[in-house]
Amino acid sequence: MVSAAAARTFDLVIAANRLPVDRHVDPDGTTTWRTSPGGLVTAMESVMHEREAAWVGWAGFPGEAPEAFDDGALRLHPVPLSAEEVTDYYEGFSNDTLWPLYHDVIVPPTFHRSWWHCYRAVNERFADAVAEVAAPGATVWVHDYQLQLVPALLRDQRPDLRIGWFDHIPFPPVELFAQLPWRAPLLRGLIGADFVGFQRPDDARNFIRSCRSVLGATAKGDVVTWQGSDDGHPGSAPRSVRAASVPISIDAAGFRELADRPEVRERAAEIRASLGNPEVVLLGVDRLDYTKGIRHRLRAIEELLADGEIAPPQVTFVQVATPSRERVEAYRTLREQIESTVGRINGDYSHLGDTAVHYLHQSYPREEMAALFQVADIMLVTPLRDGMNLVAKEYVTARHDGGGALVLSEFTGAAEEMRAAYLCNPHDIAGIKETILRAIRDDPAEKQRRMRSLRRRVRTHDVQAWADDFLAALAAAPARPRRRDGP
Ligand code: ADP
Ligand code: F6P
Repeated sequence: MVSAAAARTFDLVIAANRLPVDRHVDPDGTTTWRTSPGGLVTAMESVMHEREAAWVGWAGFPGEAPEAFDDGALRLHPVPLSAEEVTDYYEGFSNDTLWPLYHDVIVPPTFHRSWWHCYRAVNERFADAVAEVAAPGATVWVHDYQLQLVPALLRDQRPDLRIGWFDHIPFPPVELFAQLPWRAPLLRGLIGADFVGFQRPDDARNFIRSCRSVLGATAKGDVVTWQGSDDGHPGSAPRSVRAASVPISIDAAGFRELADRPEVRERAAEIRASLGNPEVVLLGVDRLDYTKGIRHRLRAIEELLADGEIAPPQVTFVQVATPSRERVEAYRTLREQIESTVGRINGDYSHLGDTAVHYLHQSYPREEMAALFQVADIMLVTPLRDGMNLVAKEYVTARHDGGGALVLSEFTGAAEEMRAAYLCNPHDIAGIKETILRAIRDDPAEKQRRMRSLRRRVRTHDVQAWADDFLAALAAAPARPRRRDGP
């Protein structure tokens, strides 16, 4: 990475809460940059690789931001967040108000006016930073729930820009969204965009219904028109925005190539041996988040062990839980609950040398993730709600040997496309148990047929196709792009 002055402007600008890399200071004082967590960065990093563009985002630590710097052809523009802003904008409004509200209120959202004020101030800072690096007429691609005010704030300053926003998480039904005390300014923020993209058609429909009900906007097909005032009468600046689904994906060719490397395959064999070469390895890989359904999954595993349907050493369960948002109370509580459940299950069902549940609270390099996926005979992706879930797509891609089986929650965006998975309702413990047993016991030919179909879907709808579709829709908005298969 090379330091560079910040004056240059770009025809394409990405704005996301996080930069693709986070700065870490090790105990000995050395600074390292590591890949940021989450599906947004996994997807966007591969799309933006070697593209000439600017990426505006937070560098992952409180205090003064580093100077802008180059990462290949990409110019990274760090936006500073003070310690208080990390608490109020990131941990507070983004992850303790919007996140639970947008994920079916699995835990109750917290509403604090001071958090909202901070969210607005940080969104203004992001809009200013984008305005500074965007060339005249540039395309700006804003990402996710942390930056919902940026489209309108940016449009006020720079009407010359083409502005798109993509929602990586679900957009809630209006009945839930309406709880938000700041529902109207948030929607006005998004209406500043030309095109807003969602993971599922239902998310786009929820957005359109919210605009009609909260702002009195009108909708014709997937184009929302707001009159510039919230009572349906013409106000200062009427605007139209198109809302459609553009499901995100992974770099299927790149991940397949990675999974096929001899060192990754050797590592997979090594992991299997270190687990005692079980007949069946069950695997879960999630950020440690209450949306991911880890507690329900563990309950199903515990009952299967109690019923004698599975037992170590023949069957073992590996749960990788990536550390996430560790200072937010709901995440702390979840961690305690999960760790005590794992301890109880292992106390009851493990034997010396035969562990029922292997629990790993760590982040790993992508090679290690690919090796883990290859070891998994049954992959358990059972979120209570998830915008997409890229782990499901990575898993089927890594198992290009034809083996494996995917158990997938109906409440993920991925389930819309991955119909050949073993689908389950993640709230139904009996249903999860039955689905796991079916995935273990089904005829190998049937499992292979399902995996083939899943791999084909991911290969033909990869992350590059997603980005092309999004940018084509943005360029044509508010009309549909002139392509037969576009969003
Ligand atoms: P989310 O965006 O909610 O975290 P996704 O499933 O869409 O969920 O994306 C998660 C991404 O993070 C995937 O690319 C996955 O491989 C990666 N990942 C998950 N757990 C780990 C881990 N422990 N170490 C490294 N990468 C991980
Ligand atoms: O994909 C959803 C997402 O929430 C991203 O917006 C976010 O960057 C990622 O997961 C990880 O969360 P965080 O940035 O809070 O660590």
